[in-house]
Amino acid sequence: MSRDELEALQLRRLQHTVAYAYEKVPLYTRKFDDAGVHPSDLKELSDLAKFPYTTKEDLRQSYPFGMFAVPQREVARIHASSGTTGRPTVVGYTKNDLRNWANLVARSMRASGVRPGHKVQVSYGYGLFTGGLGAHAGAEALGTTVIPMSGGQTEKQIQLIQDFEPDVIMCTPTYLLTIMDAMQHMGLDPRATSLKYAVLGAEPWTEEMRHELELGLGIDACDIYGLSEVMGPGVAGECVETKDGAHIWEDHFRPEIVDPFDISKVLGDGEHGELVFTSLTKEALPIIRYRTKDLTRLLPGTARPSMRRMGRITGRSDDMIILRGVNLFPSQVEEIALRIPALSPHFQLEITRPGRMDQLTVKIEPRDGTTAEQREAAGADLAKQIKIHIGSTARIHVVEPGSLERSNGKLRRIYDLREKA
Ligand code: DLL
Repeated sequence: MSRDELEALQLRRLQHTVAYAYEKVPLYTRKFDDAGVHPSDLKELSDLAKFPYTTKEDLRQSYPFGMFAVPQREVARIHASSGTTGRPTVVGYTKNDLRNWANLVARSMRASGVRPGHKVQVSYGYGLFTGGLGAHAGAEALGTTVIPMSGGQTEKQIQLIQDFEPDVIMCTPTYLLTIMDAMQHMGLDPRATSLKYAVLGAEPWTEEMRHELELGLGIDACDIYGLSEVMGPGVAGECVETKDGAHIWEDHFRPEIVDPFDISKVLGDGEHGELVFTSLTKEALPIIRYRTKDLTRLLPGTARPSMRRMGRITGRSDDMIILRGVNLFPSQVEEIALRIPALSPHFQLEITRPGRMDQLTVKIEPRDGTTAEQREAAGADLAKQIKIHIGSTARIHVVEPGSLERSNGKLRRIYDLREKA
């Protein structure tokens, strides 16, 4: 499809979705009426900017099923995301939604190098989280042999990798790091396994982390992006030929980038801001202009030319640490730390307030086999690089190898230990 054809399809689907949401979901009827817009106002794609945003709070307030557009008997599956505070957000799928979702995960996996006949170990958690069952259905739709391992039980993961010889693993990047690390500690060579591809997502990761995993395991590692409110994994997927960011499957989702500080502003391609999605084909839970809180930018298509790519997610706006006026994301520390040879990717950020000023402490493990002098020098180097590249003063604790908590899925990097007033 050319870009023009794709945009014509988007407009048709968008007009349908907006009218459908307005008619079927009281929250949208109310929101559109309050904003003084009507579905008939959507005459071209840019008219989408006239419509109100949807937030996680809207879903929370409609808990559990208030935003569903179909009667319960037409809902074939329910998922939920726990979040850190408050009620979970609940999402639903019709049979058609599940079919589209599986096809988009299959499309993402194929773009990332996976082929029918491959054996795929799914190590995302199964359950209400969309990762496990989403990847599972995609792997089946693509025609692979699925090994539904779920997350956790790292030794068992490794045993299955050795005995079942999967070609592909799907999990979070930090969990693959945990697996790789455990292999080394068991005296196994992580480069000698059957694994050739990894399809990794559900949390931010950097090019440096890709390098670490690809080199450490002898694989190709690609990104997969998604969120439960919009569908689950497979909203966007990265092509193995180019490894230059995930292509957004724009025949099913219309992305926008908005200014998070002035959300009335829709930004142009290439500009950094908050990612917003409108679903184009969803039946059970049509979603209009959902504010993801994920910060990135839109880039032109490459390997799939008509669909735009998203840059790597720098972080979520609610994961941003503001330290004495300087904004900082864990991914920036990851990027810097992994360029220092004596440091490992295992780190945590601790924020405390010993006096009146906030203090950032980076706890980081050194690589195995480094000397005390190398560790000390690496710590000093990290502090210096953080100061130069981010502008913050951080205290560095190079801790014992193996002492920091390992990831089981989505890794928590930030520990905010400030007393809450
Ligand atoms: O994490 C869906 C998913 C599962 C995606 C498996 C990929 C693989 P939620 O639990 O609702 O859904 O969390 C969604 O996770 O808003 C991002 O902040 C983050 N996220 C997901 N994929 C990526 C990625 C799943 N590739 C939230 N890079 C999103 C960076 C990601 N962040």
